[in-house]
Amino acid sequence: MSTEIADSSVPPPTESHSVLSRRTFIATTTAAGGAVVTGGLVAGPSAFGAEPETAAVAPPSNRVSLTVNGAQRTVEIDNRTSLLDLLRERLGLTGSKKGCNAGACGACTVLVDGRRVNACLTLAVGLEGAEVTTIEGLAPSDGGELHPLQRAFVEQDAFQCGFCTSGQIMSGVGCIQEGHTGSPAEIREWMSGNICRCGCYVKIVRAVEQAAHGK
Ligand code: FES
Ligand code: FES
Repeated sequence: MSTEIADSSVPPPTESHSVLSRRTFIATTTAAGGAVVTGGLVAGPSAFGAEPETAAVAPPSNRVSLTVNGAQRTVEIDNRTSLLDLLRERLGLTGSKKGCNAGACGACTVLVDGRRVNACLTLAVGLEGAEVTTIEGLAPSDGGELHPLQRAFVEQDAFQCGFCTSGQIMSGVGCIQEGHTGSPAEIREWMSGNICRCGCYVKIVRAVEQAAHGK
């Protein structure tokens, strides 16, 4: 013999309660214009096999004017564009390298208004009126004198594959301008955001020392 245990906290369904629920459901679905409401998403006829109707929405863009290596540049860019992509993809300045694209390696280091930044983490749209210097802007493009730190890198043989080198040099220029070259340990500390997979650190530090102090 089975025994039914009633849960007294739940009122038994009444005719008016169930009629109200059906009415609420019908009102909801018809208000959605025949659409089916599923888990917060409103699906139209596509739920029954047709292609979803999606309106193409252009990403927000803006015009930005900045100075790059002494030249005035004005570009219309997607607001999500990084400074690194602007330099490499739009302005053809491929000296700045995309290593990690996440702020972890320093291969993309450039100077913005004299301060070193990771170009991969910097939104270009925020650089209206800024002055950007890349590795291409350190030495004159007509084959003239190298920057003292570029010369020091060559003389100290401070690279192997060279992938990190432009970032190392731009960071080294910043490090020297900031005055963080009092000792090899200080240089290492202030250049620690620049990774060299080839392990040329000893020679990189020597190159920065040489350019800073003529050693
Ligand atoms: Fe920008 Fe690595 S590419 S930090
Ligand atoms: Fe190869 Fe630095 S020289 S990563």
